[in-house]
Amino acid sequence: MNFELSEEQKMIRQAARDFAQTELKPGVIERDEHQKFPTEQIKMLAELGFLGMMVSTEYGGSGLDTISYVLAIEEIAKVDASAAVILSVNNSLVCYGIEKYGNEEQKQKYLVPLATGEKLGAFCLSEPEAGSDATSQHTTAVDMGDYYLLNGVKNWITNGNSASTYLVMAQTDASKRHHGINVLIVEKGMEGFTVGPKENKMGIRSSDTHSLMFNDVKVPKQNRIGDDGFGFKFAMNTLDGGRIGIAAQALGIASGAFELSTQYAKTRKAFGKTIADLQATQFKLADMATQIEAARLLCYKAAWLKDNHQPYVEASAMAKLFASEVAMQTTIEAVQIHGGYGYVKEYHVERMMRDAKITQIYEGTSEIQRIVISREVLK
Ligand code: CAA
Repeated sequence: MNFELSEEQKMIRQAARDFAQTELKPGVIERDEHQKFPTEQIKMLAELGFLGMMVSTEYGGSGLDTISYVLAIEEIAKVDASAAVILSVNNSLVCYGIEKYGNEEQKQKYLVPLATGEKLGAFCLSEPEAGSDATSQHTTAVDMGDYYLLNGVKNWITNGNSASTYLVMAQTDASKRHHGINVLIVEKGMEGFTVGPKENKMGIRSSDTHSLMFNDVKVPKQNRIGDDGFGFKFAMNTLDGGRIGIAAQALGIASGAFELSTQYAKTRKAFGKTIADLQATQFKLADMATQIEAARLLCYKAAWLKDNHQPYVEASAMAKLFASEVAMQTTIEAVQIHGGYGYVKEYHVERMMRDAKITQIYEGTSEIQRIVISREVLK
């Protein structure tokens, strides 16, 4: 077993680390406060090839492996979890989905601008009454011959307004349950498609989350990915990889909070010594470090399995479940170590605690991950 990263992987990690420190850190508190989308930073990340990291170079991507992707997302999320989810959705849900299951025409038309970052993508599965229960899609795509008539509402869509290309899951034949669901590529500007107001969120506030409304949108048949009825399988298979991205985001939030906590503990004095000299702090840091390392290994394993074309459904769910719980626990402890300073914005950890919470909810809640894992182990 080889735990050593390749030179290329180390280089990617360093590039992401440098970018996060120089370009993301300076405005991160302000963007969080004002829910400001990191437009300039995403543009720069696109130029560096971070928007289509795993897409083959043939389609404008960087042609990297999933481990490199995990390393990059971790480094970005250490500093700015919002930027990390913007990248994660574009890379592992939208680009991956089109590259893996789209046809050549769809790849040329939609994947290339998404991989180069000229355009941003969104993944639209959740609905007001279908979050965890994703098979209960109410959005309909009625087959009209050469187009689908799309009607319905999608909720909590990451990149909801900043995206131009939307992968929308919709029910075509309810009698077939999830086998009657299709996935359609919808473009911003199609008649009848409107973006709802921005959600005012607890965390990841500088990523834009919106509801989307579809009112008699005519989506050409050639925008359907895969065969008729493939949409739910598409969503599930794509989410299996997406969950590795969110696990890496959670890992980044945890390791960012841990780094700040160790630095703080070494400088903050109390009772005549630094708080790092107190066993109460040392034990917290030891637990945080151990949990973070375990989360990292689960992320790497899931990524490695994906890269090596081995089943990764269970591994990605485990990575997401564990890393998101670690992100929550670690950030709570990070605030505790910082004491009163941890409760104010300048010290970053209160934001990280707010950001961590969503990793236990989106791309499948912790409860859904437990369903996925238990089904795999009981097979
Ligand atoms: N990978 C591949 N296929 C899977 C799968 C997985 N992880 N989980 C389920 N499936 C398949 C099943 O094999 C089944 O297919 P067949 O009928 O062909 O065998 C099909 O999906 C339906 O599964 P079930 O019959 O088990 O259906 P269920 O309703 O009992 O359970 C579920 C399905 C696992 C709970 C599913 O609804 C689910 O994953 N829910 C969570 C949805 C989710 O993650 N939403 C996130 C929204 S996207 C997002 O957050 C993006 C963002 O912007 C950040």
